[in-house]
Amino acid sequence: EGERTRVLITGASGLLGRAVNHELQQHKDQFETLGLCFSRQIEGLTQCDLTSIEDTLRIVTQSKPHLVVHCAAERRPDIVEKQPDRAKQLNDGATERLCQLAEECGATMLFISTDYVFDGKNPPYDEKSKPSPLNAYGESKVRCEQEVLRRRRNLVLRVPVLYGDTADVNESAVTCLFALVKAGVPCTIDHIAKRYPTHCADVANVVRHLSLRAGRIDGGVYHFSGNECLTKYEMCLAMGRVFGLSTDHVAPQVEPDSSATLRPVDARLSCQRLEATLGPEAVQRRSFEEGIRQCLAKFV
Ligand SMILES: NC(=O)c1ccc[n+]([C@@H]2O[C@H](COP(=O)([O-])OP(=O)(O)OC[C@H]3O[C@@H](n4cnc5c(N)ncnc54)[C@H](OP(=O)(O)O)[C@@H]3O)[C@@H](O)[C@H]2O)c1
Repeated sequence: EGERTRVLITGASGLLGRAVNHELQQHKDQFETLGLCFSRQIEGLTQCDLTSIEDTLRIVTQSKPHLVVHCAAERRPDIVEKQPDRAKQLNDGATERLCQLAEECGATMLFISTDYVFDGKNPPYDEKSKPSPLNAYGESKVRCEQEVLRRRRNLVLRVPVLYGDTADVNESAVTCLFALVKAGVPCTIDHIAKRYPTHCADVANVVRHLSLRAGRIDGGVYHFSGNECLTKYEMCLAMGRVFGLSTDHVAPQVEPDSSATLRPVDARLSCQRLEATLGPEAVQRRSFEEGIRQCLAKFV
């Protein structure tokens, strides 16, 4: 009988980190987890400021993880653009420190990255495609990936726009659309960018399988994505269908908004390496209608 895998999960109070923490805790025979939070104090999580060297050092030395699943990040492109120093401290700084501390204690890093490392002009993108980010957020994630990938066994998992269980629909760029659908006030919603909304619980399932095999599978970049292609406008229509709400007030926006932070038009991720490495059980995808029915029902 092997030892349980000790996993340190950063950003465990966040949208994805919560799902990862929950998923690994469902498998207590295999994992011992330590979930970190920062401003949100949640029972069962440990507070740690990852921009502080002392805090980070203390947590890693005390927990001696086999694996660090690094979900904490500033992931709002507009904030990264407007507050570059803050984003640099969390995205670049914390990732660099964690990589070094993980290496010192022999732990593997699993870094969560994004499809925004690509410019979206030439999809689909596989793990070998060359990143060419359009905005400062994408640039910061590329720098973090490069730091993580300096150690051969480390893993980078790129995912597209996420949604999942939440107490606040505005937590995700997907579920926030539901507020607009429900409000009934005329609005125009992006119908240009092709998105692949992916449920956090499906990502957490992938993370569990990667965690089980970390150190024994080849390191490097893996992609995971839902396979339904929808614009935000089409996501609104789907929400209307699922909950029987009119979407007559929602109009498609087909002209680009020149004032917004640049985002890729279609950064579809090809997931073949992940599927070949982990097999079908690890790579499950619920349909978008199923996913939003589950996480939005309590807001109807
Ligand atoms: N959401 C998406 O659509 C999406 C898409 C692609 C990739 N990703 C990537 O997936 C990962 C997870 O994203 P997410 O959506 O779960 O993010 P999120 O909901 O914004 O959560 C961010 C997490 O970072 C923590 N954090 C913030 N400042 C911190 C600090 N100084 N020290 C320690 N922790 C700090 C937050 O803790 P508190 O809340 O407790 O302060 C929170 O747990 C990120 O790497 C992101 O780039 C996300």
